[in-house]
This record gives sequence, C-alpha cells and structure tokens, in this order.
Amino acid sequence: MSALTNKRILIGISGGIAAYKTAELARALIKHGAEVRVCMTKAATEFITPLTLQALTGNPVSSELLDPAAEAAMGHIELARWADLIMIAPATADLIARLANGHADDLLSTICLATETPIHLAPAMNRLMWSNAATQDNCKTLSQRGYTLHGPAEGEQACGEIGAGRMLEAQDLADLVISVFDKSIFNQSIAKLPLSGKTVLITAGPTREAIDPVRYITNRSSGKMGYAIAAAAQALGATVQLVSGPVSLEAPDGVERSFIESAAQMHDKTMALANDADIFIATAAVADYSPAQVAEQKIKKDSKGQNSNQELSLKLQTNKDILSDVSHAFPRLFSVGFAAETENLIENALGKLKRKNLNMIVANQVGENKGFDRDTNQIEILWQDGQLSLPEQDKKTLAIELMTTITEHFIASSTLTSK
Ligand code: CTP
Repeated sequence: MSALTNKRILIGISGGIAAYKTAELARALIKHGAEVRVCMTKAATEFITPLTLQALTGNPVSSELLDPAAEAAMGHIELARWADLIMIAPATADLIARLANGHADDLLSTICLATETPIHLAPAMNRLMWSNAATQDNCKTLSQRGYTLHGPAEGEQACGEIGAGRMLEAQDLADLVISVFDKSIFNQSIAKLPLSGKTVLITAGPTREAIDPVRYITNRSSGKMGYAIAAAAQALGATVQLVSGPVSLEAPDGVERSFIESAAQMHDKTMALANDADIFIATAAVADYSPAQVAEQKIKKDSKGQNSNQELSLKLQTNKDILSDVSHAFPRLFSVGFAAETENLIENALGKLKRKNLNMIVANQVGENKGFDRDTNQIEILWQDGQLSLPEQDKKTLAIELMTTITEHFIASSTLTSK
C-alpha cells in the first residue's frame, strides 16, 4: 500500500508564477496513491491551464462558484467535505488576505470557509510582499485559526529579486503531505492537526559566553535535537518559535528562528516569547556560567598582572536558569526540560523535574560517544507518575516520537487546571 492510498487531497491553486510547480505536486501525490482534485482561482488559470491538471488528475477541475453544471457534478460544500486534506499551492498574498478576512467571493475561498478539513498553505510571492506586515499579520491569524503554513523558501525569485518568497518544491510539499498521514496520532483524527493553533517555544543549541571581543566559552551542543523537535512540532500543526544559539543548521521551513549568542540573551528572548506560547521545550545546552567581566579589548599575554606566573584566572558568575524562570513565571505553560547526565540519570532528572517545575523531562546519558554532536540519541521521558524509554535511534525519528508523547500529555493536561 502506498503512503497516500485512500487519501483524498484537494489542491487549491491561486494566481502566481509558481503554479507551474503544482502540476508536479499533483503527479507526486497521485504517484503515492492519493486521489487528487484541483480547485483553481480565476487568476491561476492564467498561469496553468485547467486542462493540464484535469489530464494529470483524471478529474474535472473546479474553478467557478456559480456554475450550475459544476455544482450539479460536485458542489462546493461536497468538495469541501470530500477532502481529507487541502493543500493550497501557491498561496498568493491576495488569497492569504482573503482567507484571513473570511471572504467567500470565489470557489476556493468558499471551500476554505466551509470545511473542517485541515488546510495547508504553501505561500509564494515577491519577498517584499511576503515580509510586509499585512501579509505577516494575515499568516499569523491563519495559523492561529489552525491553518498550517509551509515555507516560503529563500532564493532567487521569478521577479529577479533574492529573498524569502519562493514556493517550496513540489516534492517537498508532497513529502509534507505524506508525513501528515504517516503519524499514528493523525490517523486517530485527521479532522484537525493536534497542535493546530498552538505555539511551541523551543530553545536549542549551545550558548557562547564572551571572555573578550575574540574569545568565548561554549560547549559541544550541535542543536540537532532541538531543530528536529522544531520540525516535528511544526508537522503536528504548531506555530514554532525557535530561540537558537550559534549552530550551522538550516531552520525547518516555516519555523520562526531568533538567533542569540549568550545565555543572558537567550533568557531575555525566551521570556519575551513565552507569554504567547502553549508548550515550552528547553533543549538548549545553556552555559551555566559566564565570565563575570567581559574584557573590552583582547586580553594580551603580557597584560599587566595577568602573566606574572603564566596563568590566567577567569572569574565566572552563574547564569540565570531559563527553563526554571520560564516555567515559574508562566505556570500555565506545558514545560519540558532536558537533563544531560553522566551519572545517576533517572535520579538527577527527577530532581530537575521537581526543582524546575516541569511537566516532563527528557533524560539522556552524555559522555564519551553519547549525546552531544551526534546523529543518534537514546532517551528516557519522565513525568510525575510515569516513564517512557525510547531506544537509540536517529534524532529526527526520535524527535517525532518525543513530540508525539509531549502532544498527548499536553492535550491530556489541558483539561486540568494546574500542574
Ligand atoms: N537550562 C536552562 N538554563 C540554564 C541551564 C539549563 O534553561 N541556565 C535547561 C536546559 O535547556 C535543560 C535543563 O535546563 O532543559 C537541564 O539542564 P542541565 O544543564 O542538565 O541542568 P542544570 O540545571 O544546569 O544542572 P547541572 O548542570 O547541575 O546538571
């Protein structure tokens, strides 16, 4: 059986140059077993002909709201009910604005208003239209209402400019659709992604604590686990805010990333974002200490008083605990911590669960050949009255399993009034 057997996907196309990629998307979904129907806006028909899509999908293409013949075949309400998932690619700035304002002035916007089916958008537009506050506000409104946005990607645009606004590639969109149906949690209820309308705040990577303008203290964290969790949270429908230390990883498409350097900056940024979050996951390897004073100039070997016996002492001060401060300041947040331990794994992790006021803690053994800077990991998930062991596996797969467990506990805890 193919990944999309028995799945009914309605592709919406609005009028942008990226519409040519949508033919490829239809082909890819059909190849994976889906039944595909297409609804186009009038402007979309200027970029790609309905006949092309009809030939590819084997189904008539719908575009008119007030077409008696089309309504008699499959009316707009029927089409809205028919689909297991709606993917609008490309979603233009205009369509996004119309959806955010609840318009029903053509077939595609009417379907979106008349459905409980999860709606995914692949925005595509000029980079300035994308970064315009109006478009950003509209996207925020839609994602708070349960729409899932994918991309846009950065790169050279059809208009010749370079920036964020390119539609994701057809194969990437097809993979995203497959991943939606892949997860067991989605199969329980595909009417709505479980984290639709929720915001997940994640810290990731190491921090850098400056000694002087050219030197710093850091650690071996690669950020891979945090980034994989960000991608998994997004696939579950969440809006994801990623506060990241310096790493060389690409942010997953659609995830909003804030780069910081020091633990103090990570603390400030995370506290500022926590008020709008529903789940907080602290994966960052935050430096526990930072130099009490940062030298304004590069420390020289012959600095007065520093090299009398070829030694240099650095006075370190304790950094604020981001996880603990966030979970105590925002007790309604579902807070998840990580405990990287070299010994007494469970005992130390349970101590942190309590001390840091957490709903859940993910314990992992670190040390030689374990944990940091690797592609695999093995974890124990602990909560007040339970535990789940996840065996050594690729961090991306692990992140999906972990995020699924967090989601299940978050949904269960939403009915409780306090921790
Ligand atoms: N953490 C944090 N801010 C800090 C230190 C840690 O948010 N200043 C978070 C980490 O992101 C992780 C959890 O706290 O989710 C546990 O971090 P860890 O370093 O294992 O624990 P510590 O509290 O620093 O305890 P210790 O170093 O004594 O083991």
